[in-house]
Amino acid sequence: MEKQEILRNIRKENFAIPQININELTWIEPVLKAAETMNSPVILGTSDSLIPALGGYKFICNTIKNKMIAMDIKVPVIIHLDHSTSIENCQYAIDAGYDSVMYDGSKLSIDKNVAYTKQVVDYAHKNGVLVEGEVGAVGGSEDGISDSVKYASLDDCIQLVTQTNLDSLAPALGSVHGEYKGEPDLGFEEMKEIDKKLNIPLVLHGASGISNEDLMKAIKLGHVKINFNTEVKIAWAKQLRETLDNNKQLYDPQKIIVPSKIAIENIVKELINKCNSFNRV
Ligand code: 13P
Repeated sequence: MEKQEILRNIRKENFAIPQININELTWIEPVLKAAETMNSPVILGTSDSLIPALGGYKFICNTIKNKMIAMDIKVPVIIHLDHSTSIENCQYAIDAGYDSVMYDGSKLSIDKNVAYTKQVVDYAHKNGVLVEGEVGAVGGSEDGISDSVKYASLDDCIQLVTQTNLDSLAPALGSVHGEYKGEPDLGFEEMKEIDKKLNIPLVLHGASGISNEDLMKAIKLGHVKINFNTEVKIAWAKQLRETLDNNKQLYDPQKIIVPSKIAIENIVKELINKCNSFNRV
C-alpha cells in the first residue's frame, strides 16, 4: 500500500497508526524495533520546535531512513513533521524527504488557517507528501507549545477540509499535550458529527493518559492516527533515573542508555496494542 493511501484506507478498520514522537536520536531504533516486532505500521513524529536539537530536517530524515535500511525494517514507516506553524519549515521538511507534515494554523483565524494550510497542501501534494491540519486547540504544554483547550467548531472543520484538500484533520476536542490534570473529557458527540460530515481521516493529539476505551471510541469515530509523546518520555526518564540511582558509580554511556532504549521499545509495544495495530501490516 502506498504511504499516501494508508490513512484513508484504514478508516473504520478498527485500528489506528500510532505516532511516536522522537525526542532524541537514540529513540529512533527502539521505536522502529517495536513496530517491526509487532508487525505494525508506525509514524515517527518530530516536533518542528525540536528540529534544531535533532540536527535539522535533512539530517533527521536521512538518519531515520538509514536506520531503517540498517535494521531491515519492513513495516510501513511514515516520517512526519509535527506541529509546524511555519509554511517555510513545512517546505524544508518536504524538500528533505519527509512523508507527511502538519501545518498547525489553529492559533490563527479560520480564514488565515485555510489560506496558509492551502499553501502547504499545494506544495506538499506536488511532492507526494501528506498534510495534516488542525482546528481548535489541544490544551496543555509540550515542546514549547502551550494552549488551553478550545473545542474545534464543526463549521471551521468543514471550511478547512473543503477549502484546502487536506489529507487528515486534527480537530481538538478536549485532549491535552503533556499530563492530564483530572480525567480526560473528550467531545465524542462533536467527534461523531465531524466524522459523519467530513469522512476524512482524523488525528488525535494528546493521547497519553487517555483510557483504552476512549481510544477505541475515537478510532470507531474516524481516528486513524493517534499521537503519543508524554507516555514515552515518562517511561524513558523513569528508567534512566532508576539506572543511575541503582549504581552511583556508573558512567559508561551504553550501560546508562541501553535500559532506557528497552523501556521505549516496551512502551511503544503497549501503545501499538492500545491502537489495536498489532499485526496490521
Ligand atoms: P501527548 O503529550 O499526550 O503524548 O501527545 C503527543 C502529541 O499529541 C504530539 O503531537
